[in-house]
Amino acid sequence: MSAVEAAVSALQAGGLIHLPTETVYGLGARADDPEAVIKVFEAKGRPRFNPLIVHVADTALAERIGVFDDRALALAKAFWPGPLTLVVPVRDAGLACDLARAGLDSVALRMPAHAMALDILRDFGGGVVAPSANRSGRPSPTTQADAFEETGAFVQASPDGGDCPVGVESTVVSLLNEARYLRAGAVTRQQVEAVIGSLAADEVEGHRSPGRLTLHYAPDAPVKINIDMPSAGAAYLAFGPAAHAGPVIQLSAGRDLHEAAANLFRALREADRLKPSVIEIAPIPDEGIGEAINDRIRRAAGFVG
Ligand code: TXA
Ligand code: MG
Repeated sequence: MSAVEAAVSALQAGGLIHLPTETVYGLGARADDPEAVIKVFEAKGRPRFNPLIVHVADTALAERIGVFDDRALALAKAFWPGPLTLVVPVRDAGLACDLARAGLDSVALRMPAHAMALDILRDFGGGVVAPSANRSGRPSPTTQADAFEETGAFVQASPDGGDCPVGVESTVVSLLNEARYLRAGAVTRQQVEAVIGSLAADEVEGHRSPGRLTLHYAPDAPVKINIDMPSAGAAYLAFGPAAHAGPVIQLSAGRDLHEAAANLFRALREADRLKPSVIEIAPIPDEGIGEAINDRIRRAAGFVG
């Protein structure tokens, strides 16, 4: 049996899989079966009020699960397959069960840009919930080995789809009433606005994207951000040339934000394995995908939520 076949039959049987995607590895289960979806919450230790993203192989299935208005169709056309999740009203609640949606009358949908993920989703045929495959609160896995370390004990299949090229979770845009940018990712606010016009002003985080309430992405060691001069004993995540007597883990020697995003979670894990007294992170420009990097490291440092 191929890795894709093993993953598909695990999904069919109501089991859990690792779903490699271009952003991070997901912990997947069939979206239409509450007994399968509950295993995702249990494996992650994830609060039940935090709804999951339903992954699809094509826009046709997405439109059966959710209601796509002109804005949703335009964004799907512009960015799917890709690292953009659309929150829309649910159309067929049987295809994305109440537990997957945490009881909301909306659903989050995404078509990932990853060949193996699309093979699995196409051959399975239905929607697949997949939060990041880490235990709740920990850094997201961007390699199969990291996914296995986090939740390998819970999955029936753990296909190796290589290292995730994007490295931070998808952008989440809500299209319920006014369009809102709920979570920063590789698809920037400006890119979304270029397609559907200006987004509503941000509201207090967490109100519409319930998962944003809790501490996230945190390694064991405390994290400090915006550090130019690392302290003795720190493991330092650098962005470009750095002078530090202790361990330096480079996010991007050439100060490339996409490279830094791809390396971010792996670097946090690597730093944590050194058991430093503190992990210090260089200032990261807040432009393009840098907004997503800063969002994740602020949460890792405990500044949000
Ligand atoms: O890149 C990604 O999106 C990865 C990969 C595996 O696809 N998945 C991922 O899933 O990050 P998760 O469950 O960790 O993040 C889902 C986010 C949470 O912030 C959640 O609150 C929000 O989407 N969300 C899901 N359904 C929602 C809804 N109906 N309304 C508002 N926010 C929703
Ligand atoms: Mg996550």
